[in-house]
Amino acid sequence: MLEMKDVSKVFRTDLIETHALRNFSLTVKAGEFLAVTGPSGSGKTTFLNIAGLLEPYESGSYKLDDVEVTALSDDARSHLRNQKIGFIFQSFNLMPDLNIYDNVDVPLRYRRMNYAERHKRITKCTRDRRSRRAHEARAGAAVGRPAATRRHRARDCG
Ligand SMILES: Nc1ncnc2c1ncn2[C@@H]1O[C@H](COP(=O)(O)OP(=O)(O)OP(=O)(O)O)[C@@H](O)[C@H]1O
Ligand SMILES: [Mg+2]
Repeated sequence: MLEMKDVSKVFRTDLIETHALRNFSLTVKAGEFLAVTGPSGSGKTTFLNIAGLLEPYESGSYKLDDVEVTALSDDARSHLRNQKIGFIFQSFNLMPDLNIYDNVDVPLRYRRMNYAERHKRITKCTRDRRSRRAHEARAGAAVGRPAATRRHRARDCG
């Protein structure tokens, strides 16, 4: 469950302050599916970066599965992100020098998962694609399986 209350985020330069989010509140329950829409500059990316534990914010409260994120250290946020959050980027952002197997393996190693469990999960979700390099997979994905299938597989790995 994701719960934000009165979250505010201000970007400051020498000349201007931009209130990207102002007292933003939102609750997303387990199993709910959410699409974030709005005009350019309305704060969608800012919200996603904060929800994904990639960016700090000035004020307010954010609870992810009952863990209050606000006061966590950078390391603690990274740990929580590894445990709880999966990003699927339009441009994939895979590590190009690693094959698909190793791309999936990296975050599981950060999670200190043992080899047998990692191997089981990665094999299950990558099957015949695991020896391919990331750039080959990207090219294949652009013309290949529907995005929904790829999303399903990505989630199964985590
Ligand atoms: N790093 C930054 N420095 C300064 N201002 C920023 C920064 N990032 C975002 N902003 C400003 O914060 C506001 C919200 O931006 P944000 O990128 O979250 O909007 P968005 O809804 O994702 O827009 P888009 O649909 O164009 O992607 C905008 O006014 C933007 O100019
Ligand atoms: Mg954006």
